Amino acid sequence: MDNKIDAIKNILKKYGQEHLEEYYQKLDEEKRQLLLNQIEKIDFELINNLYNNTKKETKQNQDEITPIEYLDKYKLYDDYKYYENIGEKAIREGKLAVVTMAGGQGTRLGHNGPKGTYDIGLESHKSLFELLGDYIKEQEKKYNVTIPWFIMTSKENDKQTQNFFEKNKYFGFQKGKNLFFFIQGELPMIDTEGKILIGEDGLIKEAADGHGGIYESLVKSGMTKKMQEMGIKWVFIGGVDNCLVKMVDPVLMGIAIDKGVTVACKSVVKANPHEKVGVFCKRNGKPNVIEYSEITEEMAEATDSDGELLYGESHILCNLFSIDAIERMGANPLPYHVAYKKAKYIDKNGKLVEPDSPNAYKFEAFLFDAFGEVDEMAVLRVKREEEFAPVKNADSAGVDCPKTARELYKKFYKLD
Ligand code: UD1
Repeated sequence: MDNKIDAIKNILKKYGQEHLEEYYQKLDEEKRQLLLNQIEKIDFELINNLYNNTKKETKQNQDEITPIEYLDKYKLYDDYKYYENIGEKAIREGKLAVVTMAGGQGTRLGHNGPKGTYDIGLESHKSLFELLGDYIKEQEKKYNVTIPWFIMTSKENDKQTQNFFEKNKYFGFQKGKNLFFFIQGELPMIDTEGKILIGEDGLIKEAADGHGGIYESLVKSGMTKKMQEMGIKWVFIGGVDNCLVKMVDPVLMGIAIDKGVTVACKSVVKANPHEKVGVFCKRNGKPNVIEYSEITEEMAEATDSDGELLYGESHILCNLFSIDAIERMGANPLPYHVAYKKAKYIDKNGKLVEPDSPNAYKFEAFLFDAFGEVDEMAVLRVKREEEFAPVKNADSAGVDCPKTARELYKKFYKLD
């Protein structure tokens, strides 16, 4: 045991994190053990590199970005039926599973709890989770098949999420049979000096490390193995915060199968050059997405000879993968993007500090950074009013908020 502690002390010293040892000395036995368990799992080299990267000037990106080709679902003419038949056959044969990424908290929305538990204000008062579950059940009926549902939570919200499902009798799904939960990865948050923060619970402050870890989490948690045992070949991965997400799309699947690609994604036309969505592109010849926080103004506004946005295919987190692609994407680490956030923490005097402005770095990987693993993928343009009603902000923002999502949902399902 002493050897173990000595080894840990050396690591903390090497990486300038001795404050964790000082903090450890002040804890009772039970808390000490919990802290040690956390410390043992941290990749200090990675944290150190990530911190050093925050100090580097953002160097001019040398990547070559070019537009990506896409198909328009409603301009496929005779091919529509052709692809639909191929995809429908695979769906009826039980080859599709759906994954919902629900690791985020509804911070921007002002919701205190897992985002999926949010009630967008429909007369039924159904939560986002229930709306998504209703859709899956409807599709199971339509294709007379079981479509297993996998939900990715984070350490932060797993318990609350699972309790919510249990309280609602799993919305008719059977946990362990056609409903599965798995937890995504996390990384410690650090301050501007690179020191790992202690959170309100007296342990290391960790935060969900973005949905880029989903591939690895699916493999490590045994979910891909489970899927294979069930005969699944295709996995749709979508976000929890789009109440019109169409997870079961025979045309998309048919295109992927027919074209022999392992990734197929849906897009909608970008509403305006500055809409807060990522856009599909090619980066050094490989498929990719440029996130709205990282696109240059010039690129966002560039148009082609018809006046259409050159980068106008919005990424709506509606992506279909073959299981092989997921396994391949989970094998290589993705780059982390850094966000500067407000984070409560315990200072060295043991006092809780609640900052008014950002004070800490959070690191997130994005699932689309793995798209470059494949040479070709299909992008299918779909209709915004049928498939994209995101719930991101509070109503005061006026866009991508409960009010706009509710209106789109009601219109699509003719609820008025
Ligand atoms: C996201 C996309 C953006 C896209 C837009 C469409 C990212 C990084 N960007 O932006 O390209 O155009 O949606 O609406 O995704 N999540 C987790 N774990 C995490 C982080 C997020 O499960 O660690 C889930 C959230 O619960 C949510 C989804 O991923 O379902 C989107 O995450 P969010 O961070 O809100 O992305 P946006 O900024 O909205």
